[in-house]
Amino acid sequence: MRLLIMGPPGAGKGTQAEMICSEFGVTHISTGDLFRLNLAQGTALGQEAKKYMDAGEYVPDSVTNGMVRARLKDADVAAGFLLDGYPRTVAQVAELDGMLGATPLDRVLELTADTEEVVKRLIVRAKDQGRSDDTAEVIRRRLELYAEQTEPLTALYKSRGLLVQVDGLGSVAEVTARISDALKS
Ligand code: AP5
Repeated sequence: MRLLIMGPPGAGKGTQAEMICSEFGVTHISTGDLFRLNLAQGTALGQEAKKYMDAGEYVPDSVTNGMVRARLKDADVAAGFLLDGYPRTVAQVAELDGMLGATPLDRVLELTADTEEVVKRLIVRAKDQGRSDDTAEVIRRRLELYAEQTEPLTALYKSRGLLVQVDGLGSVAEVTARISDALKS
């Protein structure tokens, strides 16, 4: 299965991705995690990405598209994948379409959650994990950019008949059960 999970910052994409990947036997590809891994490893790509991530801005396509293209060629992706955080713009959708060629996405899962709840979650995470982009100002910018540039992709995937919307509010287990039901139906 070739899946994409979407939703605003803090909607629970990364949290739910673990369950989806183990239940459906696919590989998790999170662009945010790939950037953070590069940063931890001290690569030039990681240093470049950090400048944008710390400001809550999208990392330029010149960096992001190549990283995803390379990851999609890895052997562990052959049996299926769950993209998390890519594509985020209409231009990235076109890039991804080109990368996937004749075997497009099977489903696009949108986790919905209101702003008040996601901000609350990210503030808790800021205390627990200290992620550098979880400050009040940067969270605001990430949400703004999501609404402007990424949310419109849901209409695009809906028009392709791929969109499945799941309520991301409630306990992690409740959301997991909803996703599992939605992907099996
Ligand atoms: P990325 O890492 O993808 O960040 P994000 O989209 O802002 O999403 P988050 O990781 O903050 O939230 P999430 O929805 O995964 O929620 P989570 O499960 O962690 O991207 C970071 C940056 O990288 C971007 O800002 C950008 O700069 C760059 N980037 C990435 N992709 C890019 C691209 N394609 N193009 C350009 N730039 C790109 O949960 C959040 C918290 O809530 C956790 O603490 C969790 O424990 C908690 N939680 C989860 N579910 C629940 C629940 N049901 N109830 C209570 N708490 C919950």
